[in-house]
This record gives sequence, C-alpha cells and structure tokens, in this order.
Amino acid sequence: MVANRLPLHRTGTGSDGSWRASAGGLVTALEPILRSTPGAWVGWTGAPDDRTEPFVHDGIEVRPVPLSRVEVEHYYHGMSNRTFWPLYHDAIVSPEFHRTWWGSYLEVNQRFAAEAAAAAAPGDLVWVHDYHLQLVPQLLRARRPDVRIGFFLHIPFPPQELFEWLPWREEILRGLLGADLIGFQTAAAARNFAQLCRHHRLASGSADALEHDGRTVRAQAFPISIDFDWFDTAARKPETLARAEEIRRLVGPERRILLSVDRLDYTKGIDRRIEAFGELLARRLASVEDCVFLQIAAPSREAVHEYKHLRRQIDGIVGSVNGTYSTPGRIAVQYFRRNLTRAEILPYYCAADVMLVTPLRDGMNLVAKEYVACRTNGDGVLVLSEFAGAAQEMRQAIQVNPRDLDRMTESFASALTMDPAEAKRRMSGLRRTVRRRDVHAWSKSFFDVLRGGADGGGGTAEPTGSDIGEDDLTDEAD
Ligand code: ADP
Ligand code: G6P
Repeated sequence: MVANRLPLHRTGTGSDGSWRASAGGLVTALEPILRSTPGAWVGWTGAPDDRTEPFVHDGIEVRPVPLSRVEVEHYYHGMSNRTFWPLYHDAIVSPEFHRTWWGSYLEVNQRFAAEAAAAAAPGDLVWVHDYHLQLVPQLLRARRPDVRIGFFLHIPFPPQELFEWLPWREEILRGLLGADLIGFQTAAAARNFAQLCRHHRLASGSADALEHDGRTVRAQAFPISIDFDWFDTAARKPETLARAEEIRRLVGPERRILLSVDRLDYTKGIDRRIEAFGELLARRLASVEDCVFLQIAAPSREAVHEYKHLRRQIDGIVGSVNGTYSTPGRIAVQYFRRNLTRAEILPYYCAADVMLVTPLRDGMNLVAKEYVACRTNGDGVLVLSEFAGAAQEMRQAIQVNPRDLDRMTESFASALTMDPAEAKRRMSGLRRTVRRRDVHAWSKSFFDVLRGGADGGGGTAEPTGSDIGEDDLTDEAD
C-alpha cells in the first residue's frame, strides 16, 4: 500500500512527538485490509523532517517517507490540499495553481515511487492511493515493470470542464495511466476519466479497456466501505452501551439526539447543517427541550487558510444558534472540536437517534456507513446528502440537497418524527447493504480485477446488492 497518510501520525516535528491514530476515510478503510493481508504501508508520518526508520505497528509493516518542511508546505498543504482537493470537490473553494507546488509534487511522487519500488518483491501487487500520489503509477512502472499496479482515488474525480483548469492535466492523466487498474468511488468518475483520456488522445476505448501505450488500463467503480463486523461487534460491547447510556443521560434522557461526525472540512457542509438545525428550532419543528444536536469535528489541515477560516466560521455559527435558542441546562448545539479515538466515537453512534451526514461533495463518506453498522438494534435514522458517493448505495436514507436549506430543515424534522416501524425497515435495508458490501469485499474485488482474475464486466466485480440499482455502478454510458 502506498498512501500519503499512515495509520498513525506524529504530533511534533522531526522524530519527536508522540504517535496518534490518524482520522480520515482512507486510514479507516485500509487499516483492516493490511491487518488481514501481509504487506507494507509506505507513507508520511505527518511531521516535517521526520526520518523514522521502518517499524511494525499492530502487525503492519510501516515504511515512512520523509518530507521536508518546504515539501509539507508545497506538496501537502499546497498542491494536494489547495489545488487537487478543492478542484476535485466541485471547486467549492477556488483551487490555486502554482508552479513551485507542482515541482514539489513531482519530487515527492518520485520519492514515494522509489520507496514503493524498494518495498515490493518481484511480481508483487502495489496499490497506490489518492490524489497526493497521482504520478506514482507511471513513475513506479518505469522503475518496476514487473509489478501489477493498482490506483484508487478516494475522492471524486471531476468532470472535464473542471479538470481542464489544471495546467498539468495531461501529466496527471499519464501518471494515472501508469496503473493496470484505476479504481474510483463511482461509475461517473470512471467515465469522466476515460472521457478525458480520449479527449487528450492519451488512450482509446471505453473505461473498462483503455488502450494506452501498448497496454490495457481499466478504470472502474469500486465503492469503498468499512469493516462492518468490527463496528457491529464493538457496538454491542457492554462498555460501549454503558457509555452511550451515559451520554443520553448527560444531554437529558428525554431529548432525542441528532449527531454529526466529520473532519473539520469545508466539503462537509457543517455550517449549513448547523444553520438548518437553527431553522428547525426557529420554525418550532423541534425545541431544545426535546432534542439536541451533537457535532463532533476533528481538526484537519489546520495550516491551510481555508480550514482556519472554516474553524472560525463554525465557532461563530454554533455561538449564534446557542445564543439564540439554548436555555439553562438545555444547550442546543454541543460542539466537540477534537480528534477522538474510535472507542470514544462509537458510543455516540449508539446514542444518536438521527445521524446527519450532509456534505456538499464527498467521495464516499464512511461515517454514514459506520453509523449504520453500529445500529445493532435496527433503529436510528440516517439523513444523507445526495452529493456523497454513499448516496448511490444507501437508498433507504432520507436524502437531501445540502444547499436547499428549507427542505434540509424539513428532512431533519421528518427524521425526528419518523414512524419507528418505517425507521426499522429502512435501517434494516441499509445494514444489509453495508454488511454485504464491506471493506473486505471492496479490497477483494479490487485485487481480483488487478490480478486479472475477474472480468468485472459491470462497474464493479462484486455482485450488486438488492438495494442498489445496477445502473448506479455500471459504466453503461461508455
Ligand atoms: P473523510 O475521508 O473525508 O475524512 P469519511 O467520512 O469517509 O470522510 O471518513 C472519516 C473517518 O474519520 C471516519 O472513519 C470517522 O470515524 C473518522 N473521524 C471523523 N471525525 C473524527 C473525530 N472527531 N475524531 C476521530 N476520528 C474521526
Ligand atoms: C480524505 C482523503 C485522505 C486523507 C484524509 C485525511 O479521506 O481522501 O487521503 O488521508 O482525508 O486528511 P489528511 O490531510 O489529514 O491526510
């Protein structure tokens, strides 16, 4: 596995500072796979100038790649998080394009490719992940033509009219085409990629067989998931249930709990969601006596201006809603801006009557799947943005357009008042889907196609579930 982020990160500089578990969907998905499959994880420790030697963490062989302070600034904060991240998320904030960032991106991708080449045994499978490392497939192929190379993009892949903004668009397409198999979260993303390759005359054919440089490259949808059984088991543990009970008691046992759990990112729609909750109270569709909104947000990419701004903005909105609606002992929005351990998050999922997942754009959103996996009683209501990749599979959720404040507010009210039998029916369908299409099925289907074993004729090599339309995953329009 080659990914910028390792399952744990250092909090300090250089080789000082303590290790902490990393937040984010990529780590959540990849960790259980590497625990059950022998292999190494090549990535950055999160601290500049850190020259930590390879080590073993929880059965996973970790091979750190060092980044200098300037590279952290240009490659990570710059090109990765101020160019690709916003560009691939519908340009929610304006992406920036700087040649110095690009130079650094190139250099760091070379370093990751060299480390992956050193880590791989002859004939190994190398699986490269996400937007930080889009040049690695091509660079690795040049060094190690003997390995099979897979790439998976965890975030959306934009349509042509947005991707074309990128001054280095052809370099990125060529970089990705170095892989044998390129996985996306949705069939639409795979189609966007194939269309761009054809448009730039870098490949011919359809997404499931792109002819490039005398090879066949396959672009296909593999919707990512979670380790369902792990969450389901952990959610049944007495200590999890006891803590969930305690949370309910602390907020007021008679109050229904609405919950959100996100990285503090402008793609997540946290501001609009809190505003909608404020409207819910303003329109008297609910009151602080009968409900409370808990927002847990992990600080993320804090050196980047847009994230600093977001943090201040959310602080302001929470203050405004609380200032207007809270009463003694009845705080409207309880906001926890911190990184929690998984053991700390689980009881919140178990305690919450309604889960609000309302990103403006999201590759998949694993939080939605984690909530469902923790609802072992089969109750609870999920409100889910149409613009999360998860919306394609999780049809029984109440789906919302997060930019439509009126309807989003009303959907929160519907979730709070949903008939319990209807809620159970929906949750049972959601749990079936997530259980069947868990992260192990995801990685198996990817590996099967990468090894050339499965034909993967549709958009995914896994059989599609009864809850999901074939149209959602197949690449029919190609
Ligand atoms: P993204 O990949 O954009 O971060 P996902 O919803 O796919 O979004 O994944 C987020 C992951 O990070 C989930 O596994 C979630 O449990 C975890 N996470 C979210 N918020 C926190 C937090 N405050 N503390 C620790 N982990 C968090
Ligand atoms: C998303 C990205 C991951 C990234 C994670 C956390 O899930 O797809 O690649 O690791 O966010 O962001 P960070 O910048 O802290 O790695």
